[in-house]
Amino acid sequence: MDPQVAFRPFLAQVEASLLEQLGGPSPKETDTLMQAARHLCLGGGKRARPTLVKIFGDTLGVDAAKLVEPAVAAELIHAASLLHDDVVDNGMFRRGKPTVNARWGNIVAVMSGDLLLSGALLTLAGVGPRLTASALATVQEMTRAAIAEVQARGNLELSLGELKAIAEGKTGALFGWCGKAAATVAEDEVAARCFDAFGRRIGIAFQMADDIRDITGTDEGKPQYADLQSRTPNLPVVLAMAHDARLKRRIGEAWSWAALTPEKVRELGTGVLVTGALDDAIVLMNEEIDSAVDALGPYAEHESGANLVMWARTIARGIALKGAA
Ligand code: IPE
Ligand code: IPE
Ligand code: MG
Ligand code: MG
Repeated sequence: MDPQVAFRPFLAQVEASLLEQLGGPSPKETDTLMQAARHLCLGGGKRARPTLVKIFGDTLGVDAAKLVEPAVAAELIHAASLLHDDVVDNGMFRRGKPTVNARWGNIVAVMSGDLLLSGALLTLAGVGPRLTASALATVQEMTRAAIAEVQARGNLELSLGELKAIAEGKTGALFGWCGKAAATVAEDEVAARCFDAFGRRIGIAFQMADDIRDITGTDEGKPQYADLQSRTPNLPVVLAMAHDARLKRRIGEAWSWAALTPEKVRELGTGVLVTGALDDAIVLMNEEIDSAVDALGPYAEHESGANLVMWARTIARGIALKGAA
Protein backbone atom coordinates (compact mmCIF):
# COMPACT_ATOMS: atom_id res chain seq x y z
CA MET A 1 0.00 0.00 0.00
CA ASP A 2 1.31 3.43 -0.92
CA PRO A 3 -0.21 5.77 1.70
CA GLN A 4 0.31 8.72 -0.59
CA VAL A 5 -2.06 7.13 -3.13
CA ALA A 6 -4.55 5.37 -0.82
CA PHE A 7 -5.20 8.45 1.28
CA ARG A 8 -5.18 11.01 -1.52
CA PRO A 9 -8.92 11.90 -1.32
CA PHE A 10 -8.68 12.37 2.46
CA LEU A 11 -5.48 14.39 2.22
CA ALA A 12 -7.11 16.58 -0.44
CA GLN A 13 -9.85 17.41 2.10
CA VAL A 14 -7.19 18.16 4.71
CA GLU A 15 -5.38 20.41 2.24
CA ALA A 16 -8.58 22.35 1.45
CA SER A 17 -9.26 22.85 5.15
CA LEU A 18 -5.66 23.89 5.82
CA LEU A 19 -5.86 26.46 3.02
CA GLU A 20 -9.00 27.88 4.60
CA GLN A 21 -7.22 28.14 7.98
CA LEU A 22 -4.40 29.94 6.22
CA GLY A 23 -6.49 32.76 4.82
CA GLY A 24 -8.06 31.07 1.74
CA PRO A 25 -6.94 31.34 -1.88
CA SER A 26 -6.12 35.05 -1.79
CA PRO A 27 -5.06 36.30 1.65
CA LYS A 28 -4.12 39.89 2.38
CA GLU A 29 -0.60 40.73 1.18
CA THR A 30 -0.15 42.86 4.29
CA ASP A 31 -0.85 39.97 6.68
CA THR A 32 2.80 39.09 7.29
CA LEU A 33 2.13 36.35 9.84
CA MET A 34 -0.23 34.56 7.48
CA GLN A 35 2.15 34.94 4.52
CA ALA A 36 4.92 33.44 6.64
CA ALA A 37 2.70 30.57 7.82
CA ARG A 38 1.66 29.85 4.21
CA HIS A 39 5.32 29.85 3.15
CA LEU A 40 5.93 26.91 5.51
CA CYS A 41 2.61 25.07 5.27
CA LEU A 42 1.57 25.16 1.63
CA GLY A 43 3.27 23.02 -0.99
CA GLY A 44 5.60 21.11 1.30
CA GLY A 45 5.74 18.44 3.98
CA LYS A 46 4.83 14.78 3.95
CA ARG A 47 1.58 15.24 5.92
CA ALA A 48 2.64 12.27 8.05
CA ARG A 49 0.41 13.25 10.98
CA PRO A 50 -2.84 13.70 8.98
CA THR A 51 -2.08 10.37 7.28
CA LEU A 52 -1.66 8.76 10.70
CA VAL A 53 -4.98 10.18 11.95
CA LYS A 54 -6.68 8.62 8.91
CA ILE A 55 -5.11 5.18 9.32
CA PHE A 56 -5.88 5.14 13.05
CA GLY A 57 -9.46 6.20 12.27
CA ASP A 58 -9.84 3.49 9.61
CA THR A 59 -8.76 0.89 12.16
CA LEU A 60 -11.81 1.86 14.24
CA GLY A 61 -14.15 2.37 11.28
CA VAL A 62 -14.49 6.12 11.87
CA ASP A 63 -16.21 8.15 9.15
CA ALA A 64 -13.48 10.09 7.25
CA ALA A 65 -15.41 13.36 7.55
CA LYS A 66 -14.97 13.26 11.35
CA LEU A 67 -11.21 12.89 11.00
CA VAL A 68 -10.51 16.00 8.92
CA GLU A 69 -10.47 18.48 11.80
CA PRO A 70 -8.18 16.41 14.07
CA ALA A 71 -5.89 15.80 11.08
CA VAL A 72 -5.71 19.52 10.26
CA ALA A 73 -5.08 20.34 13.92
CA ALA A 74 -2.24 17.78 14.08
CA GLU A 75 -0.59 19.29 11.00
CA LEU A 76 -0.98 22.83 12.38
CA ILE A 77 0.52 21.88 15.75
CA HIS A 78 3.41 20.24 13.88
CA ALA A 79 3.89 23.29 11.64
CA ALA A 80 3.92 25.60 14.66
CA SER A 81 6.55 23.40 16.32
CA LEU A 82 8.68 23.60 13.16
CA LEU A 83 8.44 27.40 13.06
CA HIS A 84 9.60 27.55 16.66
CA ASP A 85 12.20 24.79 16.23
CA ASP A 86 13.89 26.62 13.36
CA VAL A 87 14.29 29.65 15.61
CA VAL A 88 15.71 27.50 18.43
CA ASP A 89 18.05 25.60 16.06
CA ASN A 90 18.79 28.61 13.83
CA GLY A 91 17.61 26.40 10.94
CA MET A 92 17.98 28.01 7.54
CA PHE A 93 16.25 25.50 5.23
CA ARG A 94 13.02 23.58 5.67
CA ARG A 95 11.02 21.66 3.10
CA GLY A 96 13.48 22.67 0.38
CA LYS A 97 13.04 26.41 1.01
CA PRO A 98 14.56 29.07 3.26
CA THR A 99 12.93 28.94 6.70
CA VAL A 100 10.52 31.62 7.88
CA ASN A 101 13.15 32.86 10.36
CA ALA A 102 15.69 33.07 7.51
CA ARG A 103 13.30 35.08 5.37
CA TRP A 104 11.28 37.18 7.85
CA GLY A 105 13.33 36.93 11.06
CA ASN A 106 12.76 35.29 14.45
CA ILE A 107 9.93 37.55 15.62
CA VAL A 108 7.68 36.71 12.67
CA ALA A 109 8.62 33.01 12.96
CA VAL A 110 7.69 32.83 16.66
CA MET A 111 4.45 34.73 16.21
CA SER A 112 3.32 32.89 13.09
CA GLY A 113 3.93 29.69 15.08
CA ASP A 114 1.68 31.05 17.84
CA LEU A 115 -0.95 31.92 15.24
CA LEU A 116 -0.98 28.36 13.86
CA LEU A 117 -1.02 26.83 17.33
CA SER A 118 -3.98 28.89 18.44
CA GLY A 119 -5.71 28.12 15.10
CA ALA A 120 -5.29 24.41 15.75
CA LEU A 121 -6.72 24.67 19.26
CA LEU A 122 -9.62 26.81 18.07
CA THR A 123 -10.45 24.18 15.47
CA LEU A 124 -10.46 21.50 18.16
CA ALA A 125 -12.52 23.64 20.54
CA GLY A 126 -15.28 23.45 17.91
CA VAL A 127 -15.10 19.64 17.99
CA GLY A 128 -15.07 19.00 21.73
CA PRO A 129 -13.37 19.64 25.07
CA ARG A 130 -11.66 16.24 25.36
CA LEU A 131 -9.78 16.59 22.09
CA THR A 132 -8.82 20.16 23.02
CA ALA A 133 -7.55 19.14 26.47
CA SER A 134 -5.46 16.25 25.16
CA ALA A 135 -3.99 18.48 22.43
CA LEU A 136 -3.06 21.12 25.03
CA ALA A 137 -1.33 18.47 27.15
CA THR A 138 0.55 17.32 24.02
CA VAL A 139 1.75 20.84 23.26
CA GLN A 140 2.97 21.17 26.85
CA GLU A 141 4.89 17.91 26.52
CA MET A 142 6.45 19.01 23.21
CA THR A 143 7.47 22.32 24.75
CA ARG A 144 9.14 20.65 27.74
CA ALA A 145 11.01 18.26 25.44
CA ALA A 146 12.21 21.15 23.27
CA ILE A 147 13.77 22.90 26.27
CA ALA A 148 15.17 19.60 27.61
CA GLU A 149 16.94 19.16 24.28
CA VAL A 150 18.40 22.67 24.43
CA GLN A 151 19.55 22.05 28.01
CA ALA A 152 21.19 18.78 26.90
CA ARG A 153 23.32 20.51 24.27
CA GLY A 154 26.97 19.70 24.74
CA ASN A 155 26.20 17.11 27.45
CA LEU A 156 28.73 14.29 26.97
CA GLU A 157 27.03 12.15 29.63
CA LEU A 158 23.54 12.10 28.07
CA SER A 159 22.17 8.56 28.36
CA LEU A 160 20.22 6.65 25.73
CA GLY A 161 17.21 6.79 28.06
CA GLU A 162 17.40 10.57 28.31
CA LEU A 163 17.78 10.89 24.54
CA LYS A 164 14.73 8.68 23.96
CA ALA A 165 12.70 10.67 26.48
CA ILE A 166 13.47 13.85 24.53
CA ALA A 167 12.52 12.15 21.23
CA GLU A 168 9.28 10.90 22.75
CA GLY A 169 8.31 14.38 23.90
CA LYS A 170 9.36 16.15 20.72
CA THR A 171 7.79 13.80 18.21
CA GLY A 172 6.18 10.78 19.90
CA ALA A 173 3.67 12.81 21.89
CA LEU A 174 2.05 14.27 18.75
CA PHE A 175 2.10 10.94 16.87
CA GLY A 176 0.43 9.42 19.93
CA TRP A 177 -2.13 12.22 19.97
CA CYS A 178 -3.04 11.41 16.34
CA GLY A 179 -4.08 7.97 17.61
CA LYS A 180 -5.76 9.30 20.74
CA ALA A 181 -7.72 11.81 18.65
CA ALA A 182 -9.06 9.13 16.29
CA ALA A 183 -9.95 6.92 19.27
CA THR A 184 -11.63 9.83 21.06
CA VAL A 185 -13.83 10.41 18.00
CA ALA A 186 -14.70 6.68 18.10
CA GLU A 187 -15.19 6.88 21.92
CA ASP A 188 -12.86 3.90 22.37
CA GLU A 189 -10.71 4.18 25.52
CA VAL A 190 -8.80 0.92 25.00
CA ALA A 191 -7.82 1.92 21.47
CA ALA A 192 -6.76 5.37 22.74
CA ARG A 193 -4.19 3.76 25.05
CA CYS A 194 -2.86 1.32 22.42
CA PHE A 195 -2.65 3.98 19.70
CA ASP A 196 -0.95 6.45 22.02
CA ALA A 197 1.70 3.86 22.92
CA PHE A 198 2.18 2.94 19.25
CA GLY A 199 2.48 6.60 18.18
CA ARG A 200 4.99 7.37 20.92
CA ARG A 201 7.28 4.46 19.94
CA ILE A 202 6.98 5.30 16.24
CA GLY A 203 7.74 8.94 17.01
CA ILE A 204 10.94 7.88 18.77
CA ALA A 205 11.89 5.76 15.73
CA PHE A 206 11.10 8.71 13.45
CA GLN A 207 13.32 11.03 15.50
CA MET A 208 16.06 8.36 15.52
CA ALA A 209 15.79 8.29 11.72
CA ASP A 210 16.27 12.07 11.71
CA ASP A 211 19.41 11.68 13.88
CA ILE A 212 20.76 8.97 11.56
CA ARG A 213 20.20 11.21 8.54
CA ASP A 214 22.24 13.94 10.20
CA ILE A 215 25.23 11.61 10.27
CA THR A 216 24.71 10.05 6.82
CA GLY A 217 24.23 13.50 5.33
CA THR A 218 21.14 12.37 3.43
CA ASP A 219 18.89 15.25 4.52
CA GLU A 220 18.53 17.56 1.55
CA GLY A 221 17.80 20.58 3.70
CA LYS A 222 20.59 20.32 6.29
CA PRO A 223 24.36 20.08 6.11
CA GLN A 224 25.87 16.76 7.25
CA TYR A 225 26.83 16.68 10.96
CA ALA A 226 24.70 19.76 11.78
CA ASP A 227 23.91 18.20 15.21
CA LEU A 228 27.62 17.71 15.96
CA GLN A 229 28.26 21.30 14.94
CA SER A 230 25.48 22.67 17.20
CA ARG A 231 26.23 20.18 20.06
CA THR A 232 22.65 18.93 19.76
CA PRO A 233 21.94 15.46 21.21
CA ASN A 234 22.11 12.86 18.43
CA LEU A 235 21.69 9.07 18.66
CA PRO A 236 24.71 7.84 16.63
CA VAL A 237 26.93 10.39 18.43
CA VAL A 238 25.75 9.21 21.87
CA LEU A 239 26.36 5.58 20.84
CA ALA A 240 29.78 6.34 19.34
CA MET A 241 30.92 8.13 22.52
CA ALA A 242 29.78 5.17 24.65
CA HIS A 243 31.88 2.91 22.39
CA ASP A 244 35.04 4.95 22.13
CA ALA A 245 36.34 6.93 25.13
CA ARG A 246 39.01 8.67 23.01
CA LEU A 247 36.43 9.94 20.57
CA LYS A 248 34.32 11.15 23.52
CA ARG A 249 37.31 13.16 24.82
CA ARG A 250 37.92 14.63 21.34
CA ILE A 251 34.26 15.64 21.01
CA GLY A 252 34.30 17.07 24.56
CA GLU A 253 37.35 19.16 23.78
CA ALA A 254 35.92 20.45 20.49
CA TRP A 255 32.56 21.26 22.15
CA SER A 256 34.36 23.34 24.79
CA TRP A 257 35.62 25.72 22.10
CA ALA A 258 33.61 28.81 21.17
CA ALA A 259 33.32 27.72 17.52
CA LEU A 260 34.02 24.62 15.48
CA THR A 261 35.54 24.81 12.01
CA PRO A 262 33.83 22.77 9.25
CA GLU A 263 37.04 20.67 9.04
CA LYS A 264 36.86 19.84 12.76
CA VAL A 265 33.18 18.89 12.49
CA ARG A 266 33.96 16.62 9.50
CA GLU A 267 36.83 15.02 11.40
CA LEU A 268 34.58 14.25 14.40
CA GLY A 269 31.78 13.04 12.10
CA THR A 270 34.16 10.62 10.42
CA GLY A 271 35.24 9.51 13.91
CA VAL A 272 31.58 8.72 14.70
CA LEU A 273 31.13 6.82 11.42
CA VAL A 274 34.14 4.53 11.92
CA THR A 275 32.83 3.31 15.30
CA GLY A 276 29.94 1.55 13.52
CA ALA A 277 27.46 3.61 15.58
CA LEU A 278 25.28 4.11 12.52
CA ASP A 279 24.52 0.39 12.29
CA ASP A 280 23.81 0.27 16.03
CA ALA A 281 21.46 3.25 15.67
CA ILE A 282 19.56 1.49 12.85
CA VAL A 283 19.20 -1.61 15.05
CA LEU A 284 17.78 0.54 17.89
CA MET A 285 15.39 2.28 15.48
CA ASN A 286 14.10 -1.08 14.25
CA GLU A 287 13.69 -2.29 17.84
CA GLU A 288 11.58 0.79 18.54
CA ILE A 289 9.36 0.01 15.52
CA ASP A 290 8.97 -3.58 16.74
CA SER A 291 7.98 -2.41 20.22
CA ALA A 292 5.46 -0.04 18.60
CA VAL A 293 3.88 -3.01 16.84
CA ASP A 294 3.76 -4.92 20.14
CA ALA A 295 2.04 -1.93 21.77
CA LEU A 296 -0.64 -2.05 19.07
CA GLY A 297 -1.77 -5.42 20.48
CA PRO A 298 -4.78 -6.95 18.70
CA TYR A 299 -5.12 -3.93 16.38
CA ALA A 300 -1.96 -5.06 14.53
CA GLU A 301 -4.01 -7.96 13.11
CA HIS A 302 -6.75 -5.67 11.79
CA GLU A 303 -6.50 -4.79 8.07
CA SER A 304 -5.96 -1.06 8.75
CA GLY A 305 -3.80 -1.91 11.76
CA ALA A 306 -1.53 -3.77 9.36
CA ASN A 307 -1.45 -0.60 7.25
CA LEU A 308 -0.31 1.29 10.36
CA VAL A 309 2.56 -1.13 10.81
CA MET A 310 3.54 -0.96 7.14
CA TRP A 311 3.32 2.82 7.14
CA ALA A 312 5.49 3.03 10.24
CA ARG A 313 8.18 0.73 8.84
CA THR A 314 8.24 2.49 5.49
CA ILE A 315 8.34 6.01 6.82
CA ALA A 316 10.99 5.56 9.52
CA ARG A 317 13.27 3.37 7.41
CA GLY A 318 12.70 5.43 4.26
CA ILE A 319 13.67 8.61 6.06
CA ALA A 320 16.72 7.13 7.71
CA LEU A 321 18.11 5.41 4.68
CA LYS A 322 17.06 7.75 1.87
CA GLY A 323 20.10 8.34 -0.29
CA ALA A 324 22.43 6.51 2.11
CA ALA A 325 25.18 4.77 0.20
C1 IPE B 1 10.26 16.89 10.85
O1 IPE B 1 9.05 16.19 10.74
C2 IPE B 1 10.63 17.03 12.27
C3 IPE B 1 10.89 15.73 12.91
C4 IPE B 1 10.03 15.19 13.70
C5 IPE B 1 12.15 15.05 12.67
P1 IPE B 1 8.55 15.65 9.35
O2 IPE B 1 9.63 14.78 8.73
O3 IPE B 1 7.22 15.02 9.50
O4 IPE B 1 8.45 16.99 8.50
P2 IPE B 1 7.56 17.39 7.24
O5 IPE B 1 6.20 17.72 7.77
O6 IPE B 1 7.50 16.22 6.28
O7 IPE B 1 8.26 18.57 6.67
C1 IPE C 1 12.02 19.11 14.81
O1 IPE C 1 13.09 18.66 15.56
C2 IPE C 1 10.97 19.75 15.65
C3 IPE C 1 10.13 18.88 16.44
C4 IPE C 1 10.21 17.57 16.45
C5 IPE C 1 9.14 19.52 17.27
P1 IPE C 1 14.57 18.63 15.00
O2 IPE C 1 15.24 19.90 15.23
O3 IPE C 1 15.21 17.41 15.56
O4 IPE C 1 14.32 18.32 13.48
P2 IPE C 1 14.70 19.08 12.14
O5 IPE C 1 15.88 18.31 11.68
O6 IPE C 1 14.93 20.50 12.45
O7 IPE C 1 13.51 18.84 11.24
MG1 MG D 1 15.46 20.99 17.03
MG1 MG E 1 15.63 21.61 13.96
